[in-house]
Amino acid sequence: MLGKAKIVIGRNDPCPCGSGKKYKMCHQAIDQKMVEFARKGAYVPSKKLLKKPAEIEKIKESAKINVAVLDYIAENIKEGMTTAEIDKMVHDKTIDMGGIPAPLNYGGFPKSVCTSINDVVCHGIPSEHEVLKDGDIINVDVSTILDGYYSDSSRMFCIGNVSEENKKLVEVTKKAVELGLEQVKPWGFLGDMGQAVGDYIKENGYSVVEDIGGHGVGLEFHEDPFVAYTTKRGTDMLLVPGLMFTIEPMVNMGTKEHFTEESNGWVVRTKDGKPSAQWEIQVLVTETGHEVISW
Ligand code: MF3
Ligand code: CO
Repeated sequence: MLGKAKIVIGRNDPCPCGSGKKYKMCHQAIDQKMVEFARKGAYVPSKKLLKKPAEIEKIKESAKINVAVLDYIAENIKEGMTTAEIDKMVHDKTIDMGGIPAPLNYGGFPKSVCTSINDVVCHGIPSEHEVLKDGDIINVDVSTILDGYYSDSSRMFCIGNVSEENKKLVEVTKKAVELGLEQVKPWGFLGDMGQAVGDYIKENGYSVVEDIGGHGVGLEFHEDPFVAYTTKRGTDMLLVPGLMFTIEPMVNMGTKEHFTEESNGWVVRTKDGKPSAQWEIQVLVTETGHEVISW
């Protein structure tokens, strides 16, 4: 039909994913399932959010750097160190391995990593005036660009003797991410993950930040979907093989309310000054379940 051209892929044509297999042996069944779910009214991801095999390989190369940088921080972080020293380690290790630190100059962010201590919820800016003290809990959020492909994950570190209360916050947050991950499988929904994370946080008497969350990632730093932890099972985006996103709840001991420091426009703190913890993983939906790409 004129003006309504639709490219039809033949069953025996090469699959558009670039696998080299025939369409019928590769993505045809997935495409048909997406159409069925869309007919039933599901929120189906656009095709551009679904990573092709060659893209996944590139993103994994980027993630190798991201994981190595976090491992390096884990080995070296200690009391008395400044967050500027953490920034330098992240920067130098990333560059040494051939990557680019994604936060550097991202939207004007001045450093190569986010370092968020105690009541800082996220986007802490490394500083030579900020020294790690005994009892601190800190999130180190590392993101890497390699050949234009993005990886993103973060971990918590306990400095010296951390109170039982704060240790529990860190552990519950980690477990929440693991429970969310268990829900990531093809033809489930992002809300299955969101509810698992959110329920566990609330059961433990904590709150979860609502307006800052996870995100699609891989071809860009931040892609759709927005990843929330207040969503319900069976709702939100359909999980289709090739979809890639982060799970990164910010868990507050007290109120979920927070504010951004006006002097820099970045640093987010809890309103009540109580501590906040966060772990972040980057996960891929596969045909059989999921694969953790960066941690
Ligand atoms: N790594 C953060 C995330 O999870 C983003 C930090 S952006 C920055 O999305 F510019 F603040 F570094
Ligand atoms: Co992220």
